Amino acid sequence: MSDLVQLSQDNDVAVITINNPPVNALSPGVPEAIAEAIEHVQQDASVRAAVVIGGGRTFVAGADIKEFGKITSGQHTRGAPLLPAVLLKIEDCSKPVVMAIHGTAFGGGMELAMSGHYRVAAPSAQLGQPEVKLGIIPGAAGTQRLPRLAGVAKAVEMCAGGNPISAKEARELGIVDRLVEGDLRAGAVAFAREVAGKPAPKTRERTGKLGTPEQNAPILAAAREQARKKQRGLMAPLAAIEAVEAAARLPFELGCELERRLFTGCLFSDQSKALIHVFFGEREVAKVPDVPKETPILPVNQVGVVGAGTMGGGIAMVFANAGIPVLLREVDQAALDRGLANIQKNYAGSVKRGRFTQEFVDERLKRIQPTLSFAGFAEVDMVVEAVFEGMALKKEVFAELDRVCKPSAILASNTSTLSIDEIASATKRPQSVIGTHFFSPANVMRLLEIVRGKATGKEVIATAMQLAKKLGKVGVLVGNCRGFVGNRMFHPYRREAQFLVEEGASVEAVDAALTDFGMAMGPLATGDLAGLDVGWRIRKEYRHLEKPGVRQPLAEDRLCEMGRFGQKTGAGWYKYDENRRAVPDPEVAELVRKAAAAAGIAQRQIPAEEILDRCIYALVNEGARILEEGYALRAVDIDIIYLNGYGFPAYRGGPMWYADTVGLKQVLERIREFQQQHGELWAPAPLLVRLAEQGAHFDGFIREPGGKP
Ligand code: 3HC
Ligand code: NAI
Repeated sequence: MSDLVQLSQDNDVAVITINNPPVNALSPGVPEAIAEAIEHVQQDASVRAAVVIGGGRTFVAGADIKEFGKITSGQHTRGAPLLPAVLLKIEDCSKPVVMAIHGTAFGGGMELAMSGHYRVAAPSAQLGQPEVKLGIIPGAAGTQRLPRLAGVAKAVEMCAGGNPISAKEARELGIVDRLVEGDLRAGAVAFAREVAGKPAPKTRERTGKLGTPEQNAPILAAAREQARKKQRGLMAPLAAIEAVEAAARLPFELGCELERRLFTGCLFSDQSKALIHVFFGEREVAKVPDVPKETPILPVNQVGVVGAGTMGGGIAMVFANAGIPVLLREVDQAALDRGLANIQKNYAGSVKRGRFTQEFVDERLKRIQPTLSFAGFAEVDMVVEAVFEGMALKKEVFAELDRVCKPSAILASNTSTLSIDEIASATKRPQSVIGTHFFSPANVMRLLEIVRGKATGKEVIATAMQLAKKLGKVGVLVGNCRGFVGNRMFHPYRREAQFLVEEGASVEAVDAALTDFGMAMGPLATGDLAGLDVGWRIRKEYRHLEKPGVRQPLAEDRLCEMGRFGQKTGAGWYKYDENRRAVPDPEVAELVRKAAAAAGIAQRQIPAEEILDRCIYALVNEGARILEEGYALRAVDIDIIYLNGYGFPAYRGGPMWYADTVGLKQVLERIREFQQQHGELWAPAPLLVRLAEQGAHFDGFIREPGGKP
């Protein structure tokens, strides 16, 4: 037997332990070794039953995702897939095989579990078929065995939605036969002994829960509709539904064949490659080359938040939800009351939607302690400042924090545009100052840009990165440039969207080109949601820095002058009805036409393809500059920022990955066309030129040491 799987014996019960840390993925060698162990169980007369259990922190988290890239790039010679055959072997073992689940039984791990005759689980275990999140479907009969255990409706939900269920729910559904409190291995062995000698039920032979075509038709139709709506543009959920449907319609073997065909189709798709890039990317961004894993982490057991406005209130909720008590400071009672009322309203909405229970909310609210002073700030381990965006005020607040906070406290700013270094200069401890740029609404959006200043200490960075995970966020480390990474790129993206409208595209056509591509919202509708006045104020502050003669968008300043700030004022690029539904507004079209005519901008029909290329390549070109300048560590960091903060479709992998899939040569050619038509705003980023000429990709690009920041 290999090191990956150990076989031991507890009197008459064999215990097969899978040991492939960290998550016992079914890497090459693991299925073979399980098959070998089962063979042993079959042959050994002293064994009456077997238990399969995971060593370490989990059962089996699935197939080894790293292997998929090798398959699709042709590095693996693809013979018949091994895992399905191993699962049949387990199921055909004449002695009962009990799967003992703790941690996660995901994907191939869930499929392995279902090939056993029985399943027992620790109450904290989770079970699921998350393959759709990687753009694939279960590929080892998961879509065929799960409906036999849990029924078609639940199988469709799990295989197409990808979300896990708890062991308790699995027990209620009949997927798990017993929950084991305490020692799982001992409980599983005892269970195995109880069932030894009795006929072992094979999952694939069960038909009791498969239902009739008439019963299944509405379930499948509803699932398809939901997938089209909630997982817009994704092919895997629909493939998963088709495969589960086949389980109810076809004999097991034929269902498995269809599943395999659908699985392979998905695996070789661009969607799956992009989603696998995202899976590893989300983990990669946590790794900062010069901040090693061993860097000490500072304790963050109590925090202070300064400012209880839109962001401060949301940030306080984020900490409270993670169990960290918060002191929430405002300047006056009215602002504090407003802030708290917003927090309460927000929580009440979550209770109404069933996201949180009232008890949960009450407990969270108790953790948020309002205050009008800095008393108590001497105790906190970290402060997040979220006062108005203005350098003088920020500096004042940081100077005060420097006076009142203990020397080890981390001082973080939620600024979205200001220099962290300048803010840090107001303190005597710039090494403790960092940017934590939450996105609005802070309690919902997953992205946290962590901004590293010139002097920010490694321990402070490591702590912020770890804290992001604890807060349920994806933390991405970025450098200190104007707009950091996300907003710096968003600027040319939205600029192009506005230019396109000035050149003759309708507001709706611009937004539709981007939502058809998969963006959660169009760029103009996004402006309306965030508030057009935010950019207007910033523009007014920075107008003196604008280069004369450089084309600037014409309409948003005028919309703001008319009081059209977007959704909050009922009108912006669109008009909004009482349900905040966007309605096209001819008045805006007229306003833009006039402004364009006055500026001498010719009108023309603009194809959707040009709209898309202008907006997305504006992102890509700026992303390339950011990458080369070192403000993002890797291209994937930019991708993860865009997926989690800006509604970029995950199945396209992020802007930089998308550019790689189009081909950088082609992207560059298009950008050069735009440069000829529109001038120097479209000058291609030097890195893009270099990589395109080398036939290289953004993915895997590592900046030479000694770059700018
Ligand atoms: N294959 C390869 N590596 C995996 C893996 C997998 N299935 N699952 C996790 N890993 C790696 C991660 O990349 C990470 O590596 P790193 O330390 O080098 O960055 C390490 O294991 C630890 O993972 P996490 O940081 O994610 O650890 P957590 O404790 O936060 O989460 C988990 C554990 C919930 C299991 C999470 O890793 C997860 O969801 N994994 C993916 C599960 C999945 O999608 N399974 C289905 C695979 S496809 C399949 O099975 C097809 C089948 O139908 C044939
Ligand atoms: P806001 O205007 O909603 O809230 C700011 C709050 O700070 C006000 O309630 C004000 O009373 C309070 N305040 C001012 N001075 C204070 C002081 N000395 N002590 C305590 N409280 C004080 O502003 P918002 O939108 O929450 O922005 C806060 C910060 O977050 C800004 O730096 C902004 O750039 C940034 N940001 C905003 C985002 C957004 O979408 N609104 C997104 C990401 C970052």
